[in-house]
Amino acid sequence: MFFGKREKRKLLYWFERRLHASPLIELALHKKVPVHKHSVWYYFGGISMLLLMVQFVTGILLMVYYVPELGSAHASILKINSSIEFGWFIRSLHSWGANLMILAVFVHFFSTYFMKAYRKPRELTWLSGVLLLVLCLGFGFTGYLLPWDEVSFFATKIGLDISSKTPFIGELVALMLRGGHNIGQATLSRFFAIHVAVLPVMLMGLLSLHLAIVQAHGMSAPKEFNETPEDKKEYEPFFPDFFLKDILVWILAGNLLFVLTMLCPWGIGPEADPFAPAPIGIKPEWYFLAMFQFLKLIPPMVGPMEGELFGVLLMGVYALALALVPLWDTGESEARSKLATALGVVTLLFMVIFSAWGAMS
Ligand code: HEM
Repeated sequence: MFFGKREKRKLLYWFERRLHASPLIELALHKKVPVHKHSVWYYFGGISMLLLMVQFVTGILLMVYYVPELGSAHASILKINSSIEFGWFIRSLHSWGANLMILAVFVHFFSTYFMKAYRKPRELTWLSGVLLLVLCLGFGFTGYLLPWDEVSFFATKIGLDISSKTPFIGELVALMLRGGHNIGQATLSRFFAIHVAVLPVMLMGLLSLHLAIVQAHGMSAPKEFNETPEDKKEYEPFFPDFFLKDILVWILAGNLLFVLTMLCPWGIGPEADPFAPAPIGIKPEWYFLAMFQFLKLIPPMVGPMEGELFGVLLMGVYALALALVPLWDTGESEARSKLATALGVVTLLFMVIFSAWGAMS
């Protein structure tokens, strides 16, 4: 053996003197996870994390060949898809990975919501999660334009037009994102910079905070578990029991990603022509579809207010109420607790029904 017991101890001591990591290791070794009938939902934060790692690795590989310039962006994606070895595979992993990750983050959002994991002392875990969700949607929105094909161009145009309706700041934000009044090179450069630099840096910072708070508080548990007498409560150690199950779930999620990638490689449409009329039936990505469909139902004018502005305001207020749920559903009022659950159910139904409707119409 290269290292004897004494050398190993010396090596550990060397690292301990420099990193002071033993309190963290202690915390991890003693971490335990409540066991109950809803425990399955604990895996979705970890699945989101796995898919995020896939996005980072495949995104860096794609950057090697992708060219964020008007005359070359579409051609560079065609090249990745057809002549770079395994280019289609990496690109499909990235595209399917993005969709699965947003789905996993939504499941994680709703499961923590319905388990009321946002209540004291986890308000900041929840709020950092809400910001993470916004960043994930930002990744989806900015990434969608990069291939510069017809659908991505016009979907981005519609998305920016809708967000410019946000009161006070909408017009300014849309102008800054576009880099002018039309979508062009300035927009592509900005979206690229936001997608590959701004959002990853923000996400890493926020995620570190999110995970640090999760570690500090341990996992929350549903009401029935908390009301069970202490000696009847069941826990399992995070290391190795839960961690090994986490890895098993990662393998399953990874398999799903591979199957989708192999069976349905991600394609690309014709190159965008900014001067051509928008193709009929253009739609945003599925995760924006419910909002898009909802806005389509609102008449052009609602009283003295423009219909789209009214719709954006309504959704904004509703989203804010959900985002700030830890402030009004603190667990002290049964009526508010029921209201929060009802709002969650309505939101989930709205998203499923309106997305399906949007996809079919
Ligand atoms: C990139 C996105 C995200 C990643 C990678 C992530 C990761 C994680 C992980 C690994 C955990 C611990 C295990 C678990 O409960 O699943 C966790 C816990 C938690 N997350 Fe997230 N999360 C993300 C987004 C969100 C979002 C969008 C929300 C909701 C707004 C959220 C709210 C929470 C809460 C409240 C907990 C504590 C759960 C408990 O104590 O039971 N997270 N997150």
